[in-house]
Amino acid sequence: MYWYLPWVWTATFWNEWAGTLPLVAVPMQPEDLDFVADIHSQAFDRPWSGDEFAALLSQPGAFGFVARRVGAPSNAPAGFVLARLVAGEAEILTIAVSPKFRGRGVGRMLMDQVLQHLHQERADSLFLEVDEENAAAIALYRRLRFAEVGRRPAYYSDDRGRKTSALVLKRVLG
Ligand SMILES: CC(C)(COP(=O)(O)OP(=O)(O)OC[C@H]1O[C@@H](n2cnc3c(N)ncnc32)[C@H](O)[C@@H]1OP(=O)(O)O)[C@@H](O)C(=O)NCCC(=O)NCCS
Repeated sequence: MYWYLPWVWTATFWNEWAGTLPLVAVPMQPEDLDFVADIHSQAFDRPWSGDEFAALLSQPGAFGFVARRVGAPSNAPAGFVLARLVAGEAEILTIAVSPKFRGRGVGRMLMDQVLQHLHQERADSLFLEVDEENAAAIALYRRLRFAEVGRRPAYYSDDRGRKTSALVLKRVLG
């Protein structure tokens, strides 16, 4: 009757053990895309599907990283970043960390991985857009020495129609 208990204990032990492993940023793979879409849907009002991520990732110059536990490749990633590099100019298309992993350095690790990749590719600059009211993201980008180079007024709109501006941030590379 309780034949399944050893499986439950094993699964619980595995999850707890896997939860103590360090996180690393590794290139995004096709099998990550549904997990990535799920994390994205928890972070933004307009979710993107796994197919939309696949289409973005297949664009020229597009690249992405996911944060995952060392040695636990089948576990859902903790966060991801998707970016694009064209003619020396790069942009962050989107970045998000799963709510339960926020505030633990995952976003910083993903951005550092992007910067390292762009350094290897000898890119000149990295741009992104961020909602002026997104304090967590702005803190992350300021820490990484991004500077405000533009502002798009009333660029974002929430469910109730309240509008906020997008800040255009740039980090000079090289
Ligand atoms: C923005 C986001 C990716 C940051 O990821 P994270 O893993 O929580 O960030 P980190 O733990 O790496 O923190 C990076 C820096 O930002 C700061 N920070 C993070 N969350 C913060 C918050 N809520 N308020 C103030 N500062 C914050 C940290 O203190 C840290 O600075 P430090 O190095 O000086 O300590 C995450 O909050 C997220 O997924 N948000 C929803 C999606 C989103 O807004 N994406 C960005 C769109 S432009």
